[in-house]
Amino acid sequence: MFVSDETINEIIEKIDIEEIIGNYVNLKKTGRTLKGLCPFHAEKTPSFTVTPDKRMFYCYGCQKGGNIFNFVMEIEKFTFPEALQFLAQKAGINLEPEAQEDVSEESKFKKQLYSLYDKISTALNYILLNKPEAEKALEYLKNRGISQSSIEKFQLGYIPSDRKWLYNFLRKKSYSEDFLSQTGLFSSNYKEISIFSGRIIFPIFSKSGKVIAFGGRCLDNSLPKYINSPESLIFKKSAELYGLNFAQKEIRKNDCAYIVEGYMDVIAMSQAGIENCIAPLGTSFTEIHADTIRKNCSSVIFVFDGDEAGFKATVRSSYICEKANLDCSVVAMQKGEDPADILKKQDKEALKNILKCSINSFVFLVDKYKTIYNISKEEGIKDYLNKLFAFVVISESEVRRSGRLKAIAEVLDTDYASVYDDYLRYLKKGDKEISKTAALTMGIDKISPELYLMLAVIDNYDYFYMVRNELSIDDIQDKAARNIYIILEESYRNNIFSLESILEKIENSGLRSLIAKKLSSEEFSINSKQLIDDSINVIKLKNLQAKRMQIEKIIAKDNGSDPYQLEKLIAEKLFYDKEIEKLKGTNGNNV
Ligand code: UTP
Ligand code: MN
Repeated sequence: MFVSDETINEIIEKIDIEEIIGNYVNLKKTGRTLKGLCPFHAEKTPSFTVTPDKRMFYCYGCQKGGNIFNFVMEIEKFTFPEALQFLAQKAGINLEPEAQEDVSEESKFKKQLYSLYDKISTALNYILLNKPEAEKALEYLKNRGISQSSIEKFQLGYIPSDRKWLYNFLRKKSYSEDFLSQTGLFSSNYKEISIFSGRIIFPIFSKSGKVIAFGGRCLDNSLPKYINSPESLIFKKSAELYGLNFAQKEIRKNDCAYIVEGYMDVIAMSQAGIENCIAPLGTSFTEIHADTIRKNCSSVIFVFDGDEAGFKATVRSSYICEKANLDCSVVAMQKGEDPADILKKQDKEALKNILKCSINSFVFLVDKYKTIYNISKEEGIKDYLNKLFAFVVISESEVRRSGRLKAIAEVLDTDYASVYDDYLRYLKKGDKEISKTAALTMGIDKISPELYLMLAVIDNYDYFYMVRNELSIDDIQDKAARNIYIILEESYRNNIFSLESILEKIENSGLRSLIAKKLSSEEFSINSKQLIDDSINVIKLKNLQAKRMQIEKIIAKDNGSDPYQLEKLIAEKLFYDKEIEKLKGTNGNNV
């Protein structure tokens, strides 16, 4: 591909670097430069700078820097030709035809996917608004209080109930069979059967407003309630936030984001005039989400359902967000209610009023845990303190930490000094005994490490890919854990996950209730990635040690008749020694 230096310079000159980078980073002016949180590494104070005069960016933290080409290539993972296309378009410059040709297969495919998803989204929106077969769906949305303008803004759609409809529709638009089979929209066994049918469709947009996936809701109580399109080259579920394309501007303006549980809630909030609202896709909130949010604002308000699951989500998400240095508050909702329900049962005003009463997350937890643990008993106090101390530790400021300890002392009606004492003890234990790894090897509740890991990963399904990357089914000995592994693997391959469907497939009722019990505590909600990482290592270590033991036994029995054989065995043992040392090294770092 040839493109002249003049063209490149022309693009660099015409581009408004502040505007382009501003789409990714919340920039604040300080003199001749602009500053913000670096999009390339996690940080809490801004060290990323843009100097418009020089048309350059530079991060003092991770030392990444360069011109606008370097920036978009890094952040969008563009190849040079892709960056060229992208920036030329922004600069309003027409490229020579030969400069447009040479793009990689992968980027061609991505482009086709974007265009396909966009077409589908437009078509389904049209069907919802115009076709008789969508009447039920439209009625359903109206009944839930969703307005015409929300349907338009969020481009909601309806996909006909004929499971071959989408295939036929797209084939008529001359998409090839081969391409369609790679889009993730069709069953892997039956190429004409689409994964969505007879559902209301929520297009999922990227931050820049391109359709990258779909969520589909059924119109009745059948399961699964929502189906989401699988991950693809253009869609990584744990990194995307529903509504961010619409909300980003308002989030920055208000320096605050509302976080709700689902699609319908984002739409309900928007309808009530609250535009700085987003939702993770599916139930769990990840560090990547927190990081994305932190780059746009400094505080979040959780508006989760007042039920058990909502509370768990609040604990988990607050923990992750506080670690990312976001100020967290909570709007305490009634059990079984979410913003969409309030909009439906009452109105916009009611929803807005409820949102006025947000309280600091920690204050919320101090209160809430009081109703969970019996703080008139020593055992209860211990549990109560352990839960809350986890939130004291992560606080960056000394002032805030002591404020939190004081709040705890008040609730327990005791003096600050004794709470502080307990806190110090907690910190010491945190270093040694409380480490999850140690707890694991001791076999908490007599649950095997394998089963423990499976429970943790049911609760944090987004991390299942880590487990299957590191451990195969043969690495799992525990029968119950194997059973769960197989079920999770199946749902991973079919790209459908819900707790209900997992429970349904587990025949052993004891195991089912164990899962239910464990998951209704927040045991696995805090620091889950680390927890899962540690568990994987513990299992690997256990397996390696078993293998080494086996070899040692064989060596002990060896009569030395075949020196070559013995040498091989010893080499094998040394290999295991090394692997074990390596693993212990990584575990050591985590503790
Ligand atoms: P909820 O079960 O709270 O649903 O799941 P909701 O948002 O209140 O949905 P409505 O109001 O009954 O229509 C919250 C979010 O979790 C994801 C969806 O993103 C949903 O919006 N989810 C839920 C799934 O992906 N699959 C499911 O089966 C259920
Ligand atoms: Mn709801």
